[in-house]
Amino acid sequence: MAQFRPLHGFRDFPPERFAERAHVFATWRRVAARYGFQEYDGPPLEPLELYTRKSGAEIVEQLYAFVDKGGRDVAMRPEMTPTVARMVAEKASALRLPVRWFSIPQLFRYERAQRGRLREHFQLNCDLFGDASPAADAEVLALVIDVLRAFGLTSADVRVRLSDRRLLNALLAALGHPDERIPAIYAVLDKLERTPAEVSREKLREAGASDAEVDALLALVARTATEGAAALRPLLAEGEGAERLAALEQTLALVQALIGTDVAPWVRVDLTIVRGLAYYTGLVFEVFDAQGELRAVAGGGRYDNLLQALGGVDMPAIGFGWGDVVLTELLRDRGLMPTGVATLDWWVAADDDLAPARVRAVVGALRRAGERVEYALRAQKTKKQLEAAAKAGARHALVLRAAGAYAIDVASGERVATLDDAALDAALARLAEGGTTFTTLMRPEAATTNA
Ligand code: HAM
Repeated sequence: MAQFRPLHGFRDFPPERFAERAHVFATWRRVAARYGFQEYDGPPLEPLELYTRKSGAEIVEQLYAFVDKGGRDVAMRPEMTPTVARMVAEKASALRLPVRWFSIPQLFRYERAQRGRLREHFQLNCDLFGDASPAADAEVLALVIDVLRAFGLTSADVRVRLSDRRLLNALLAALGHPDERIPAIYAVLDKLERTPAEVSREKLREAGASDAEVDALLALVARTATEGAAALRPLLAEGEGAERLAALEQTLALVQALIGTDVAPWVRVDLTIVRGLAYYTGLVFEVFDAQGELRAVAGGGRYDNLLQALGGVDMPAIGFGWGDVVLTELLRDRGLMPTGVATLDWWVAADDDLAPARVRAVVGALRRAGERVEYALRAQKTKKQLEAAAKAGARHALVLRAAGAYAIDVASGERVATLDDAALDAALARLAEGGTTFTTLMRPEAATTNA
């Protein structure tokens, strides 16, 4: 018989994996909510044209696209940004500005599956619409840093590397590069780190740059990496470039105020960050592990023209996408990923010969009070039931007897409480009132009556 396996680049999530995913999602949701972001979703299948219009060649090549039974060209969503841009544009006049929306969609890209890159992933998307100021940029960057911190990561583990496309364009103009050369230079910068220096130089020369221009550009990239934004100042004395540099410095100062600690260890200005997607217009950033061993953890930027292009509404926007794949690897590597699935609070066991109806009644009462409870579905010796309790990871077991009951700590086997029927009924009644747990009621000092 054929053995079925998931498609290459797709994942199963058995409970221990699902527990990791649940931890990631819960942390994302908690921090996004702290910044006032509200959750939304959209369709997983969209018209193909939503992506061919503005996303850029790389993502379009990776689309899971097909013709549906009605003859429509459709694609499984490879990213959320076009969907959210369309949704916000459609409701624009009714929304309070700035709009702060987040989502955790599953996305599909036909990529070469490799470490950190699969053919499906979940991606936190946080996007802020309707404000083009450094204050809006700072909100989004501070959110990124707070998500990192919420996972227990520090500035020694990760780095936010950022740049600004308008700033970069001004720098390239100041270095003497004509506009038509800019796309080729972006492509080289984007891959600079992963490409042998000679290949990058050759590509720049092919794009029309002289040897002196190539040297000057690569020297500036290197100097910025060590000196930060200060390295750019001599080239940007006035005009758009000077304004963008001032805005970037202001953004970083605002982030520092929001995160309540020095921003410098977290953030680095880096001219090799240009981002592959075609719609970015201003600030662009990516999060990397500090060792530079893994693929990008997250990436985003400002896209002030996309709502116009997809929905006919002039509204600036900034946001990011943060995948679960590299993040999960990083958290595991750093020992920051909680292990194990949710355990049971109680196992209810029946002493030999006890009527199963009594077990079910107690189990039902505990479950209605919110306890996580299991019991043996078939009659078994008490010893077997307690072995099953240990295997299930139950912390406590309640053993019901013909008269009364006792509670034990499953790991140690120690008896923590002994009750007569009246005391057990009283404890269940107290539990039903709320505000306590059965474990609290069964603490030796709290257990009401000793049989
Ligand atoms: P992106 O850089 O294509 O941006 O993806 C963002 C993040 O999604 C990456 O940094 C990575 O964590 C994750 N990711 C992307 N592709 C894969 C893959 N094949 N397997 C695993 N993880 C992956 C965007 O998608 C933009 N739409 C983000 C954005 C939102 N910009 C503004 N708002």
